[in-house]
Amino acid sequence: MRKRIVAGNWKMNCDLSETDYLLSRLMEQKLNPEVEVIVTPPFPNLYTAFNLLKNAPIDVAAQNMHQEANGAYTGEVSATMLKSVGVETVILGHSERRAYFGEDNALLAQKVSTALSQEMRTIFCFGEELQERKEGRHFDVVKEQLQEGLFHISNDDWKQVVLAYEPVWAIGTGETASPEQAQEMHQFIRETIAEAYSQDIANEVSILYGGSVKPNNASEIFGKPDVDGGLIGGASLKADDFAAIVNAF
Ligand code: 13P
Repeated sequence: MRKRIVAGNWKMNCDLSETDYLLSRLMEQKLNPEVEVIVTPPFPNLYTAFNLLKNAPIDVAAQNMHQEANGAYTGEVSATMLKSVGVETVILGHSERRAYFGEDNALLAQKVSTALSQEMRTIFCFGEELQERKEGRHFDVVKEQLQEGLFHISNDDWKQVVLAYEPVWAIGTGETASPEQAQEMHQFIRETIAEAYSQDIANEVSILYGGSVKPNNASEIFGKPDVDGGLIGGASLKADDFAAIVNAF
């Protein structure tokens, strides 16, 4: 049985007191216990979040990490540093990292390897841009992102991987993929994994949808058979909206 997951990607939002406030409000919410709930505050607030949520059914993940174990990489954060503050899950390959920080598939393949070798669960993000969809290339683009960024991992590694399909045109735009578009792509992703690995692995991996998920559209999207949850941006910054999305299954 695949895990249902709703993860909030806070991006570059929430200073220390805002983190404290948002998590306190979130802990007051009734959350569906069958859904794994994850929040991803910015780096400086991860340790505070981990401590605040110690007894809550909410996990803490990081939004990024560097591919090297340590060294002269000014401004960067390593997997072991994240683990040392209690973080055992990391988002890799977000479209904003790809677009604004030049992270390509080859670099992401290295980050994935590092994360997995450090036993960090990886939420691997990918998705096509608007022009690519208009040109009918969205399936090819997604397949290439998977093949080049992820398909070097072993069968066993898949236990530590969650996928997040995030069409770039739907991120922060208010324009969501229709539930049918999400289902069509998620099914394609599962077929692609089945071809490259096995049907069992494809069936077991959770595939989240991300891109303008809100309380009013979450249940329709999560109702599709190959959609196992969501990676939520804007709506994860309000405790009641995020809880409503968690409870939308
Ligand atoms: P929005 O939910 O704000 O569209 O962001 C989606 C996203 O990028 C999650 O990683």
